[in-house]
Amino acid sequence: MSIVEKFISMEYGPAPEDPREALVWLDRHGRRLGHFINGDWQAPAEGQYFETADPSSGEALAAVAQGSAADVDAAVRAARSALPVWQALTAHARSRYLYALARQVQKQSRRLAVLETIDNGKPIRESRDIDIPLVARHFYYHAGWAQLLNQNFPGYTACGVVGQIIPWNFPLLMLAWKIAPALASGNTVVLKPAEFTPLTALAFADICREVGLPPGVVNIVTGDGSTGEALVKHPQIDKIAFTGSTEVGRAIRKATANSHKRLSLELGGKSPFIIFEDADLDSAVEGLVDGIWFNQGQVCCAGSRLLMQESIAEMLLAKVRDRMNMLRIGPPLDKAIDIGAIVARIQLERIQGLVDRGVADGATCWQPPGLTMPSRGFYFPPTLLSGVHPTSVVAQQEIFGPVLVAMTFRTPREAVELANNNVYGLASSVWSESINVALHVASQLKAGVVWINSTNLFDAACGFGGYRESGYGREGGKEGLLEYLEPVWFKNAPHAQTKDLVIRQSSKGHGDLGAPPIDRTVKLYIGGKQVRPDSGYSIEVYGADGKVLGEAPLGNRKDIRNAVEAARKAESWSKATAHARAQILYYIAENLSQRANEISLRLSAVVDREKAEAEVQCAIERVFSYAAWADKYEGVVHSPPFRNVTLAMHEPIGTIGVVCPSELPLLGFVSLVMPAIATGNTVVVIPSERYPLIAGDLYQIFETSDLPGGTVNLVTGRSSELMKVLAEHSDLDAIWCFSDDASSATAKLLSIGNLKQVFTNEGRAIDWFSADQGEGLWFLRHAVQVKNIWVPYGE
Ligand code: NAI
Repeated sequence: MSIVEKFISMEYGPAPEDPREALVWLDRHGRRLGHFINGDWQAPAEGQYFETADPSSGEALAAVAQGSAADVDAAVRAARSALPVWQALTAHARSRYLYALARQVQKQSRRLAVLETIDNGKPIRESRDIDIPLVARHFYYHAGWAQLLNQNFPGYTACGVVGQIIPWNFPLLMLAWKIAPALASGNTVVLKPAEFTPLTALAFADICREVGLPPGVVNIVTGDGSTGEALVKHPQIDKIAFTGSTEVGRAIRKATANSHKRLSLELGGKSPFIIFEDADLDSAVEGLVDGIWFNQGQVCCAGSRLLMQESIAEMLLAKVRDRMNMLRIGPPLDKAIDIGAIVARIQLERIQGLVDRGVADGATCWQPPGLTMPSRGFYFPPTLLSGVHPTSVVAQQEIFGPVLVAMTFRTPREAVELANNNVYGLASSVWSESINVALHVASQLKAGVVWINSTNLFDAACGFGGYRESGYGREGGKEGLLEYLEPVWFKNAPHAQTKDLVIRQSSKGHGDLGAPPIDRTVKLYIGGKQVRPDSGYSIEVYGADGKVLGEAPLGNRKDIRNAVEAARKAESWSKATAHARAQILYYIAENLSQRANEISLRLSAVVDREKAEAEVQCAIERVFSYAAWADKYEGVVHSPPFRNVTLAMHEPIGTIGVVCPSELPLLGFVSLVMPAIATGNTVVVIPSERYPLIAGDLYQIFETSDLPGGTVNLVTGRSSELMKVLAEHSDLDAIWCFSDDASSATAKLLSIGNLKQVFTNEGRAIDWFSADQGEGLWFLRHAVQVKNIWVPYGE
């Protein structure tokens, strides 16, 4: 073709990146790679290897070790022995290592980008300009946190040995998101990359050697799901951090339930991409291309659900189709390619299966008719499914491929309803030229990230992670670092000594007390009303002297269901201003203080008088403390390296089930319930099983303190049974269980249905009287989830 002809056609010629350097690295390892354990390469104990291939051609790249339980054990031992060595270094020394890792990643960026592209199939343009620069940025940013750790996190210490499991869609970037914060906060690591894409993690192992990282601080064990399973189950692991499918996330929650391993999960998504009629449509279409066709749509936060205002739907879809006609699909090493290869055949088949399902459900499927598809390798054309019903499988399930699903809405309210009509809550994108509309919608979306007039922006300073079944925990930012830290007192706390309680059911129906009169009968408190229990039965409550003090209702499943429904409806509380919430908490403290004498007198039937008085005084102070926090536990504004600000908002988790400790019926209650409601959550609480009569005092105080009905709901009864109902309830967002070891494990196990967040004392004893242990940031942190709203500025 002559130059003139080229100018006329404006066709791209091939512009392949040279893969030689990456291939030389593979050859240097003899195209056979072992595990990286204790600073050295080790052959797999069972001698098994598997092949990793280039998805753009299907050709094998290298043989990689298949990790067995023995390999995982060796790696965990190495990490355990390296822990004191790593922690003995100064913060500055650890910071220097992270800095050296960042520098080295930058120096080797081209080789790493090529290696990523040939192993994963993503366009070199993306691995070169997005993945690898973000990897370096992550290590730089966390070099900073390592340096500033002690000043910023006094009283906190590293979790210990961390097991990390990552997926194949952003192999090196996910490694950086996991390893950088773990090392910066003083942990050591065993990381398992995904079986489809292990190569850049192994190249990173070489980098660890080059910078002289102490042996055992980072260990990489390759293998499939069974290797991941062995890591999750290893008893010497203190924390598991996982990114991948929701299904495996659930399996990991289950496998770790009976242990004290901390857990963070970054799971799937079905993120809405909302375009209002006043949006800059051409920019929105460009955003959409990035939102769904970036990395072939194999992105957990892909803007895969297009929600268009009805008035512009037709025009917008025409623009989308025009743009799709211009997309180029082909060899990922070609620098002028938009869409590369799908990671593996099985993934290709999954995508096709779901598209077929969508069409069977009535969707219209459109793919660019003139698209030239490569003749070999795993490719899927960019696809638009329109006319999709919101309940269709393709509108609800993650497709994890280059498939956009389009629906319409009429009003902003309908847009929010449709957007939130999904079990996931990872990310979202909102397009409108009206900042009022965009921010109003952003505040209502159930998603950990909201991009306004933008999409797929990431930065180490801005936390990333989901709401609901998209998982829990954040990566990036200060909150990401806290996932790898624990309060020192908690780590060292002894196990709680709990005596078995003997609870006797009253032989009489509730309210039918007969003679002689018994001191007190309390009721349940649901939706702001005192109600009788569904069962019609009560339990007897005994004093320290063994005498009956009164009766409390025997709550059951139905009462819990009613309480959760009432808590859900009490939306006015989460929408109230922080100032208004503070005022009501102060009012509660005031009313508690007025009743201090009578309550301590009653409490002295179960503990001695002095202790009862101390408990009431401490409880008043605690309520005061959270009244103070209510308008001070705020988010921050990040300044990532783009022309935008990112508002990291603290949002309530939603409705929380709270199981109070048996001891200290009043102080235990306020120590858990006040941080939850101060931050805007509504709660269903099971008060102390030992002294449930406290419920009567509490609801009288709430009633006189203007606390909106439904904000706090009280269900008394057998704590361990009611806890199970809470843990299984699919409309509850979190469960806080402060009881014994067995209850902690059960709460975790039963929480997997809707992956609710679980916060427990892990059966450890907490000194509720101490302000260091019984109140403050540790509780507040568990009461909120951070939503990052990205707001661009400039023309
Ligand atoms: P996956 O969740 O099975 O794999 C992710 C990682 O977990 C891999 O390293 C894998 O070896 C490991 N793993 C698998 N089973 C395990 C177990 N029982 N215990 C511990 N580790 C285990 O994801 P997969 O099969 O590769 O992809 C399936 C679907 O998952 C995709 O189609 C997509 O919908 C979703 N996915 C979502 C990702 C996200 O970032 N949200 C990432 C990857 C996949």
